[in-house]
Amino acid sequence: MQTTRIVVPEKIGKIAPEIYGHFSEHIGGVFYGGLWVGRDSYIPNEKGFRKDALDLLRKIGVPVLRWPGGCFAETYNWRDGIGNNRPVRHNWWTRNDGRYESNEVGTHEFFDLCELLGAKAYLAINVTSITPLDAREWLDYCLSPKGSTTLAKLREQNGHPEPFKIDYIGVGNENWGGGGNMTPDYYALEYRRFATLIDNVCKACKSDALVVAGGANHTDFNWTHDLAANLATTPRTPGWGMSFHFYTTKAGDCVNYTVDDWNTTIKLARAIEPTLLRHDAITQGFGINNKCKLVIDEWGCWHPDGSGPSKGYNLFEQQSTMRDAIVTALSLNIFNNHADKIYMTNVAQVCNNLHSLLLCDGGKNLITTPTYHVFDMYKNHMGANAVKVLLENNDTLSASASIKDGYLTFTLANLTADKDEETKVELLGCDTDFALAEAYVLSSPDMRDHNTFDEPTKIAPKSIKLDIRKAISVPAASVISMKIKLGS
Ligand code: AHR
Repeated sequence: MQTTRIVVPEKIGKIAPEIYGHFSEHIGGVFYGGLWVGRDSYIPNEKGFRKDALDLLRKIGVPVLRWPGGCFAETYNWRDGIGNNRPVRHNWWTRNDGRYESNEVGTHEFFDLCELLGAKAYLAINVTSITPLDAREWLDYCLSPKGSTTLAKLREQNGHPEPFKIDYIGVGNENWGGGGNMTPDYYALEYRRFATLIDNVCKACKSDALVVAGGANHTDFNWTHDLAANLATTPRTPGWGMSFHFYTTKAGDCVNYTVDDWNTTIKLARAIEPTLLRHDAITQGFGINNKCKLVIDEWGCWHPDGSGPSKGYNLFEQQSTMRDAIVTALSLNIFNNHADKIYMTNVAQVCNNLHSLLLCDGGKNLITTPTYHVFDMYKNHMGANAVKVLLENNDTLSASASIKDGYLTFTLANLTADKDEETKVELLGCDTDFALAEAYVLSSPDMRDHNTFDEPTKIAPKSIKLDIRKAISVPAASVISMKIKLGS
């Protein structure tokens, strides 16, 4: 039996709601055959987005949504996605799946989606194949006051007189790879040009959008070092954040994995913690961490392709099992525990893709994945104040805790596929009558279990009664969340 100590006086910082952010790219089935059905569809929709998906996403709360890519962003011309006569183009991913981009979803539809979800908007701007002037014009189109510029009038003709609200602007995507195969020094020069003009037009439009530099792949600390070194030489370069991407890559089949594959996945996933600490330490070393607040704008498991319901038609679509749920719980616990260092993350991707929360067939079928349920169980952490949790054995358990509105939210995951655990919980430095408001467990008899169109609710959180004065059982491969009222 372990003891887990929640040290309430040891405050870590506010958990930015954006840590629970999402990513939606024009790739495979995320929009077409996924979230987007079109206004005239027989599938119930709001402004063309399927209502069942919107309702599910509203339930968990989507604080921020990144769009339009991913790699797609780096060949995207925003002018293709406005007005009535939208061209069909090669999508970045056409070479992989032969599917063309209809541009049915464009700027107006994206902001509709954000509004429908109550999400902040995070635009990823093309750096590889447009000029800073094109980027400036996209922002002029989105942000200029009603009736002011020619592009504001064009926006009005297209049905939106008032400016859109942009909260975050990412400068490029994976510029070390698909985004131009740049060196960090070369990217830094591009970033300086784009960020300067972006900042200029945002200020002209009185927008407080925050600019995010494109950071490293995974543990490429050299990228962070060289980019930070370059930016440190130009203190006038605008900026707020720096992103990096972290995928937990393949360990066995997506569904038919072994316990060894499970253990490898957990080991790979937990490396996100030292990785984020080191990226942060590097920018701190250059004294520019105020401009390089850490963002992880793509994260999740990346399993071999073809396991999703579309059997490979939707590029990168994969089933999401209890293994993915545990990676989600572990990752979110790590982010909560470093709420002072991490300001936004965007799980990749929201629907019909990698590490998705929703899987659907373009028709009536739509299911939630175990990953969706973890986001649901963790949602009370958003905007709460993280406090320290001390575990006796973090090889087997992962946990985080936070306080908001007189309640403590405590989330716990058993990282093992096959060992039940037990822990006592000591709450240090605060009073509670231990009256438990809510507790839920997500678990399943087989570590490979997942939801399907035939069994859509095989995995769903169950409400449980817990008295944390007694030991808590944490079954193998399970996630527990609880909300406890604190004494006055
Ligand atoms: O999420 C899928 C792809 O993964 C994104 O387009 C890209 O940024 C990353 O390599």
